[in-house]
Amino acid sequence: MERLHKVMARAGVASRRRCEELIASGMVKVNGKVITEPGVKVDPATDRIRVGGEPLELSPARQYILMYKPRGYITTMSDEKGRKKVTALLKDNTGRVYPVGRLDYDSEGLLLLTNDGDLTYALTHPKHLVSKTYQARVSGVPEPVKLKQMESGLPLEDGLTAPARVRLKSQREGNALLEITIHEGRKHQVKRMCEHIGHPVIRLKRIKFGNLNIDGLKPGQYRPLSGDELKMLKEKSGLGNTDKY
Ligand code: URA
Repeated sequence: MERLHKVMARAGVASRRRCEELIASGMVKVNGKVITEPGVKVDPATDRIRVGGEPLELSPARQYILMYKPRGYITTMSDEKGRKKVTALLKDNTGRVYPVGRLDYDSEGLLLLTNDGDLTYALTHPKHLVSKTYQARVSGVPEPVKLKQMESGLPLEDGLTAPARVRLKSQREGNALLEITIHEGRKHQVKRMCEHIGHPVIRLKRIKFGNLNIDGLKPGQYRPLSGDELKMLKEKSGLGNTDKY
């Protein structure tokens, strides 16, 4: 048995406090009877709960995982070549979660995994795509004018790229390290941008995704998002306050 307001909050109705208010206001029925007293316990598996006349849909607890994807793993759910999936790196007790967006097989770095379909949709929707920052080791050392072109937009085969931020971080023995921030999510975008200016990518690592960064994690490691990180990410994705009432 579990407190009614907690069960409601877990189902995504609203925050716990708001759920308590909804109960007190007489909007919630359990097995056909209006419940207004606080602290009532229910069995989510057998009790019929309705909020504002709508049956409560109990979804599994939401999970948000920030992983350092190592190179040599795929982020898609199936692969005809039978290559290793990033989800194989998660412990067995982690529920089903799915990568948000993709990182190539040979790319590494920050990958968000979740079972929250609304957030995935919001984060990958072209209307409010969050920024993504990559470190790209490229062949040769690009001239400043090439970096400027990358920043203002390159005519790739699927259209002009949106404005980006590009910095030359360092250079050594015929290659350079670029830091590139983009807001789009086209397939192989960073590799295609670098290829276009004549400096193909040798190694690619994503270091930031919106307000999240990869600091403190080694390849293959992961951790849950903190409450603050999640709140900010939701705000950035345009979801903001997700209370339904
Ligand atoms: N751009 C690429 O080309 N590859 C990635 O994995 C991510 C961004």
